[in-house]
Amino acid sequence: MVLLTLIARVRDGLILATSIEGPDENPDMVKYTNQAKMLFRKLSAPNTPSQQTVESRPYVFHYVIKDQICCLCLCDMNFPRKSAFAFLEDIANEFNGQNGSRVATVTRPYHFLDFDAYIQQAKKRYSDRSRFAMAAVNNELTDVTRIMVSNIEDVIHRGEALNILESRASDLSDMSRKYRQDAAMLNRRSMMFKVFAALGFAGLIFLILRFFVL
Ligand SMILES: *[C@@H]1O[C@H](CO)[C@@H](O)[C@H](O)[C@H]1NC(C)=O
Repeated sequence: MVLLTLIARVRDGLILATSIEGPDENPDMVKYTNQAKMLFRKLSAPNTPSQQTVESRPYVFHYVIKDQICCLCLCDMNFPRKSAFAFLEDIANEFNGQNGSRVATVTRPYHFLDFDAYIQQAKKRYSDRSRFAMAAVNNELTDVTRIMVSNIEDVIHRGEALNILESRASDLSDMSRKYRQDAAMLNRRSMMFKVFAALGFAGLIFLILRFFVL
């Protein structure tokens, strides 16, 4: 069963459309909507897969990125991944066809709430697929076993780990710069010490020569 569907802009995670669920909606959905929002904010990071399955037990998110948008759904763990990805591909194509040209300029969230009508219709089609129709989905779709499966915590905190690494790296480079400066100063000191020592020694020789030889 598909519990929740959201469409967001990849660039900044702005939510464009959502499925409007009935009054019997699961109260936990606020939590999962928030997780989805955090996930959306990570989409513009480099190396983000264009299709992914993200587990958040007891459910699972699936998403696809198409052009400027990301379509995501939350499903029961036993909902077939092929149906989920077929559903997402379907709504992504329809959304891009209808409203894709306006995505870049939208500023307020949930601008395309009307799209819910299409989401509901598609959801029915992919949930009620008979075994016969499922076979068609199986054939028309890419091999979903190759789509990466991650965990929600890892996805949400991925950027943070990188930030920590980056700040450690910059600490290290500050330290090494300081070390190089200190080393250069020590070098200069030791050079000057040698020069003074040499001068002192020359002076001593001069005095000795002057008193004892001349
Ligand atoms: C999205 O596209 C549909 C069909 O072209 C149109 O009727 C609808 O008004 C558009 N929605 C917005 C918010 O522009």
